[in-house]
Amino acid sequence: MTRYEHFLRNCWYMAAWDHELIDGRLLERTVLEEPLLLYKGDSGRAVVLDNRCCHRGAKLSKGRLEGDCVRCMYHGLKFDATGKCIQIPGQDNVPPRMGVRSYPVVEKDHCIWVWMGDAALADPGQIIDIPYLRDPAWRGMADYMHYKADYRLIVDNLSDFAHLAFVHTHTLGGSEEYAFKTKPVAVERLDDGFRVERWSLNSAPPPFHRQVVRDDAPLDRRNIGRMFVPGIFFLETLFAPAGQGAQLAASGGAREYRNCQFFTPETRRSTHFFWNYLHNYDLHDPTVALSLHDSMVRGFLEDKTIIEDQQQVLDDDPDFRMNGIIADAALAHFRRLLQARIDKERASMSQQTPSIQGPQ
Ligand code: FES
Ligand SMILES: [Fe+2]
Repeated sequence: MTRYEHFLRNCWYMAAWDHELIDGRLLERTVLEEPLLLYKGDSGRAVVLDNRCCHRGAKLSKGRLEGDCVRCMYHGLKFDATGKCIQIPGQDNVPPRMGVRSYPVVEKDHCIWVWMGDAALADPGQIIDIPYLRDPAWRGMADYMHYKADYRLIVDNLSDFAHLAFVHTHTLGGSEEYAFKTKPVAVERLDDGFRVERWSLNSAPPPFHRQVVRDDAPLDRRNIGRMFVPGIFFLETLFAPAGQGAQLAASGGAREYRNCQFFTPETRRSTHFFWNYLHNYDLHDPTVALSLHDSMVRGFLEDKTIIEDQQQVLDDDPDFRMNGIIADAALAHFRRLLQARIDKERASMSQQTPSIQGPQ
């Protein structure tokens, strides 16, 4: 399978947090196995170019920012924000073929989105709206984690509530009762992903929440998970005193969380994971966000250990086939949907690109 068969290309991928591009930083980042350079020049507009000088392939990320342009520091070729070469030191003319690919890029709600497919199809209106990331009623700490695993294994993990009680017993999940006794209200299979709603009534608070509120009283807990193609996950979590869950869910006033997670393939075997875990209470107190951030990191590392091991096991025996259980309903739907989108994209690309044949 080539990289073109493995990834959906015509969609927006989160490529960086805005804070990664401060102070004229030339950020090197591989997305869908394409080496990219991301930066913001003097205009403050985000730019994404191929991170490979068209002269002899030096990394532009090791170059020098000049206004909105970047200069390769091997032989000094200068490229503007569209990737056009505008200067070759010691040479008067710049041949039009000299340039590097530029990618459509949009900055929105602290996220830098890049379009890796056909630039003519890049519609900023398709970028998912994430109001929590700009709404002052929510507070969190944006962060990043690198995974040595196929991003689909991580998306599988997020699609699967059943692992919470076992992998995250002491961090995010709580007791095994959560896995055995709470059933999803519904798994809604949608065209662009799925939605799962799950209630757990009158149960002990999970460790990450108890650590912040310092109260063991039983709670009603509602989780609504929403996954979007190609690998964007939001988890809305609500905690209310036992018996008041439904009422506070309707009227507001409960302690709530918003887990915003973005998975972007680096290669077929590695993934960029961007996340922010936001909360809606005690906003004056920065230690709440700190505690939640630390709990999430501990929880995510629990997933990472299992998933990176799983990747190793799968690589060691390509003939191994997974076997589904009922808890896999959401992830099975998502995998089918994603593969169908990739197949459709491949089919339309092969129709548009006639094969190149010499004269007979
Ligand atoms: S490799 Fe970039 S200028 Fe020569
Ligand atoms: Fe997990």
